Amino acid sequence: MLVYRTFSDLRKYLDQKDLFGKTIGFVPTMGALHKGHMSLVQKSNQLCDISVTSIFVNPAQFNKVEDLKKYPRNEEVDIQMLEVNQCDVVFIPEVDEVYPEGLVSPKVDLKGIDLRMEGKHRPGHFDGVVQVVGRFFDQIRPQKAFFGEKDFQQVSVIEQMERVLNYKVEIVRCAIVREDSGLAMSSRNKRLSDVGLTQAVLISEQLQWVKNNFNFSNGNEIQRALEKAFKTDAAMELEYFEIVDEVNLQPLKSTNNKARAFMAVELEGIRLIDNIALY
Ligand code: PAJ
Repeated sequence: MLVYRTFSDLRKYLDQKDLFGKTIGFVPTMGALHKGHMSLVQKSNQLCDISVTSIFVNPAQFNKVEDLKKYPRNEEVDIQMLEVNQCDVVFIPEVDEVYPEGLVSPKVDLKGIDLRMEGKHRPGHFDGVVQVVGRFFDQIRPQKAFFGEKDFQQVSVIEQMERVLNYKVEIVRCAIVREDSGLAMSSRNKRLSDVGLTQAVLISEQLQWVKNNFNFSNGNEIQRALEKAFKTDAAMELEYFEIVDEVNLQPLKSTNNKARAFMAVELEGIRLIDNIALY
């Protein structure tokens, strides 16, 4: 596996004559890799000739300095895992490489997709995501890019960005990978204690309960029951729980809408998110 740290070195490689006509699959990540990330790499390997994974903890998308500082990093282990999973190229730039002085990033109208949930509770977060993914798309120019539904709202934001800025990159959505316990895999899980890891299972359990019990007319009841379950649980604090139309991420309007439940909780000072389709 090749390791590059600057756009120009990566471009030099991608511009080689013998790579002409080959399809590039791109998997953007912030490292601290796990099986969820690897499912994206595997999908890219299936659908593209060359898989490029980036590892970059993007300061622009963190709205809390503490969160950025504590974000888990382990480059060596990440590189090993990518190698085992037959990724072709890993790109690991420094902050100055991604954000050189004077860089101007286009502003994207996100059409309200960013108004609820993560967008509402992490002001500026999606602007930072759009900025970094846009910069990578500009430089890497992949045919396909792979994103996990673990960050469902993020994929919707990226699809909107792709439409507005006309990158002509196919955005491939990948299913959420979970632990046997049901807990959605996340780099942030690495910071939980053993007790925390057990407690965190409540998130996916509650989402499954919502899936089993939701119908179009009992949304308010479900909301109250869920809030109560988290109030009773002293360890976890519910930041938000919302059921919305998964196409536009706005409140449900008709029974034809595809409903999806989203939540964010805080446990041991760590923010965890998850979502589930209700159809
Ligand atoms: P990160 O949290 O590292 O996630 C990288 C990609 O892996 C995202 O598309 C995310 O949805 C996916 N992913 C994470 N956990 C997953 C799981 N359990 N199952 C399936 N996919 C999973 O998301 C980001 O980084 C950043 O915002 C980024 C897009 C790289 C921009 O900085």
